[in-house]
Amino acid sequence: MVSSSSSFGLFLSLIQLVLLVAQALIQSPPLFRYCINSSGNYTTGSPYDENLSNLLFSLSSSSNRNGHGFYNSSVGENSDKVYALGLCRGDQPTDNCIRCLSGDAIHALTKECPVQKAAFGWYDGCMLRYSNQPLYGILTSSPSFALVNTQDVSSTLLNEFNQKLKALFERLSSQAAAENDLKYATGTQNTSDASVTIYGLTQCTPDLSAQECTECLSSTIAQIPLCCAGKIGGRVVVPSCVVWYEIRPIVAAPASPPLPPKATPTSPPPPPSGIFHSYTVYFVTNDVATLF
Ligand SMILES: *[C@@H]1O[C@H](CO)[C@@H](O)[C@H](O)[C@H]1NC(C)=O
Ligand SMILES: *[C@@H]1O[C@H](CO)[C@@H](O)[C@H](O)[C@H]1NC(C)=O
Ligand SMILES: *[C@@H]1O[C@H](CO)[C@@H](O)[C@H](O)[C@H]1NC(C)=O
Ligand SMILES: *[C@@H]1O[C@H](CO)[C@@H](O)[C@H](O)[C@H]1NC(C)=O
Ligand SMILES: *[C@@H]1O[C@H](CO)[C@@H](O)[C@H](O)[C@H]1NC(C)=O
Repeated sequence: MVSSSSSFGLFLSLIQLVLLVAQALIQSPPLFRYCINSSGNYTTGSPYDENLSNLLFSLSSSSNRNGHGFYNSSVGENSDKVYALGLCRGDQPTDNCIRCLSGDAIHALTKECPVQKAAFGWYDGCMLRYSNQPLYGILTSSPSFALVNTQDVSSTLLNEFNQKLKALFERLSSQAAAENDLKYATGTQNTSDASVTIYGLTQCTPDLSAQECTECLSSTIAQIPLCCAGKIGGRVVVPSCVVWYEIRPIVAAPASPPLPPKATPTSPPPPPSGIFHSYTVYFVTNDVATLF
C-alpha cells in the first residue's frame, strides 16, 4: 500500500511537472516589456481589471480581427475604459498569430505588469499594448528596445555593409509605409562578399498613415547605430513600429515565386527560431514623458 500510494504521489508530481513545462513552453517570455507606472495602477477585481480581462480575452478571438493580424478594441466606460492594440509579425499565419497573442502576449504581459493600467510587450511573433488612453492611430515611438546580434561584421566589409544596410532600410521603409492593410516589408541586399546577404524587415502598426509610418521607421532606424553599429544583426522596436536586420533569413521565404535551383547543395540557413541566443538586450530610451 505504501509503495502504491507513494508512486501515485510521484505520478501526481510528474503530472504537475509536465503541466509546468507545458505552461513555460506556451508562455514564452517577452523579448521586451514595459510596465507603464505613470498611467496609474488598478487593483484585482476592480472594474478596470474586469474590463481589461474581457478586452484581452476578446482581442484574440477572430471576430475582432481587423484583417492582417491587427487587432484594435476597447471595453468599458469613462475612467474604467481600457484600450488595446495587438499586431502580429507580417509573415505570421492566423493560427500562429492568435497563439502568440492569446498565449504569450496576453497571459505573460498581465502577469509581468500585474498592477499597471498600461503596458507594452513585444514577442517574437506579435506585440501587444493596452492602456487607459486611446492608442489607435497615435504614433508612439518611445520607449524603444533593441536586441543586438553580438557578432561583428568583418572590418573589410564594414563601410559597404553600413551603406547597403542604410539603402535596404530606406527601400523597405517606403515599401512598408506605402502598404494599406499590412504596413510590412521584407527584402534582401547583397554585398561584394558573396557569402554576406543582408536580410531586412520593417513593420508599422497599420493604423498609422504612410507619413507617420515613415516617421516612425526613420526614427527607429536612426537608433540602429546606437545599439548595433558594426554588428551582423539587430532590431529596434517601439510601440508603433519595428526594424530588424540579419545576415540570414529573418522570416521563412514566401512559397512563391520558387527559388532558382542552387549550384551547390548547401544546407539552408538555420530557421529564425533559436536565433536569439547570442543576443544582448538594450533598453535604448526611457522617455516616459512622451509616452501615450
Ligand atoms: C514600474 O515599477 C516597477 C515596480 O516598482 C519597476 O520594477 C519597473 O521598472 C517600473 N517600470 C518602469 C517603466 O519604470
Ligand atoms: C504603480 O505600481 C508600481 C509597482 O508597484 C509602482 O512602482 C508605481 O509607483 C505605482 N504607480 C502609481 C501611479 O501609483
Ligand atoms: C466594465 O466593468 C464594469 C465593472 O465590472 C462592468 O459593469 C462593465 O459591464 C464592464 N464593461 C464591459 C463592456 O464589459
Ligand atoms: C479602434 O478602436 C477604437 C476604440 O478603441 C475605435 O474608436 C475605433 O473606431 C477603432 N478603429 C477601427 C478602425 O476599428
Ligand atoms: C547581387 O549580386 C549580383 C551578382 O554580383 C548582381 O548582379 C546584382 O546586381 C546584385 N544585387 C543587388 C541588389 O545588389
